[in-house]
Amino acid sequence: MAKYKVAWMPGDGVGGEVMDAAKLSLDALGFDAEYIPADIGWEFWCKEGNPLPDRTIETLKNTDCALFGAITSKPREEAVEELAPELKDKGLSYFSPIVKLRQLFNLHTNLRPCKAYPGNPLNYRDDIDLVVFRENTEGMYGGVEWFPLPEKIAKALADEQVGHPQRMKRWFEKGLENVAVSTRIMSRQGCESICRQAFEYAKQNGRKSVTLVEKPNVLRETGGLMTRVFRSVARDYPGIEPWEANIDAICMWMIKNPQDYDVLVAENMFGDIVSDLCAGLVGGLGFACAANIGDEYAVFEPTHGSAPKYDGKNVVNPMAMILTAKMMLDWLGEKEMGRRLEAAVAKVIAEGKVATYDVKGRGKGDSTMAVGEEVARQISQ
Ligand code: IPM
Ligand code: MG
Repeated sequence: MAKYKVAWMPGDGVGGEVMDAAKLSLDALGFDAEYIPADIGWEFWCKEGNPLPDRTIETLKNTDCALFGAITSKPREEAVEELAPELKDKGLSYFSPIVKLRQLFNLHTNLRPCKAYPGNPLNYRDDIDLVVFRENTEGMYGGVEWFPLPEKIAKALADEQVGHPQRMKRWFEKGLENVAVSTRIMSRQGCESICRQAFEYAKQNGRKSVTLVEKPNVLRETGGLMTRVFRSVARDYPGIEPWEANIDAICMWMIKNPQDYDVLVAENMFGDIVSDLCAGLVGGLGFACAANIGDEYAVFEPTHGSAPKYDGKNVVNPMAMILTAKMMLDWLGEKEMGRRLEAAVAKVIAEGKVATYDVKGRGKGDSTMAVGEEVARQISQ
C-alpha cells in the first residue's frame, strides 16, 4: 500500500495540464502516493447540475489531502444557460466548488507564498519574499447574500432598536427589488486563528514583521474586530513587528517598496486581492502557489484559474502547480522532498533555458510538459 492517498482533482481548463506536469516531479522524487481521481468543476455542473458531486466529497474524506488544478466560475445567469437541457428548469444555482470545499472541510487558512526566484525575468525585484495568510472561510465569501433584498431582511436591518433605520432609508426609497446585499461576516475565532498562524509562521521562519491588511476606518465592526485581535495576538510575539495597512494603501506600497514586506495577513476578500498583487510581483499567476489548510485536511491549488482560452494548448506555466505540490510535500512532513523540489524549480528558473511563453515571450515559449520534464530532470540528476 502507498504511504499516502491523494485526491487528484484536475478540475477545469488547464488544470489537468499543469497537474500532469507537476506529477512528473512527484514521481521523480519517489513520492509514494496513490492518486485517486475525483470529479469537480464546470463539466459536472453542466452534466449533473452540481460542480462538486457528493461522491467527490466522499473521496476526499478517504484521502490524506487533495491536489487541485483549477476551476471555471461564471455568474449565475450564464451558468444556468450552460446546463444540460433537462436540468435547466430545476431552479439550480451555481456555486464555486472551491469556495464550498473550503467551507465544508473547514480549510480556514489560505497560505500563499510569493517568492522572487533569482533569474526570473518577470520578477518585479529580486529581493521579494512574501507570504500571505488569507482567512479562507469567512468574510465576504460566507455566501450570505440576497437579490432582490427580501422585505423581512430589510426590515430587520432597519429595526428601531438593533438596526440602522436612518442608513437603511435610502434603500427602501430605491425599491428593495433593486437592491442586492452581500454580507461580510467575521468571527473573533476566525480572526484569531489567521492572525496567530501568521505570527507563528513569522516566528518559526525568522521573519521580521507581520502586516495586517484591512480597512478598519470604514469597515468599523469587521475591520475593527480584526484589528483588535491582531494587536492582541501581536503582544504574544514581541520579536515580530506588527504593521497595519489599509487594503488600498498597501496596493500602492507594494508597488513602491515590496521588499519591505514580509508576512501579510488578511480577511478572505482582501487576502484574495492582495495575493494576486503579490503574485504579480514575482512573475504573475504562473508562479503563484497556494494551499487551503484546515486542522486535519488540506487542498493544494495554485492561485491561478482555469485559463479557458489556453485549454488544450499545453502552453501555460506549470511552475505555480509544481510549487503547490511542494507545499503539499511540506504539509505532509516530507520536508526533504519539498526542499529538493524547490531547489529544482529554482535551478530551472535560474538557467532560463526551458520556460513557457509568459517568461520567454509569445510564440517563443516551451510547452507546459517541457517545463515539467525539465524540473523532473533536475530532480533526477
Ligand atoms: C482564488 C480565486 C478564487 C477565490 C475563485 C476562483 C473563487 O480567485 O483562489 O484566489 O476568489 O478565492
Ligand atoms: Mg483570487
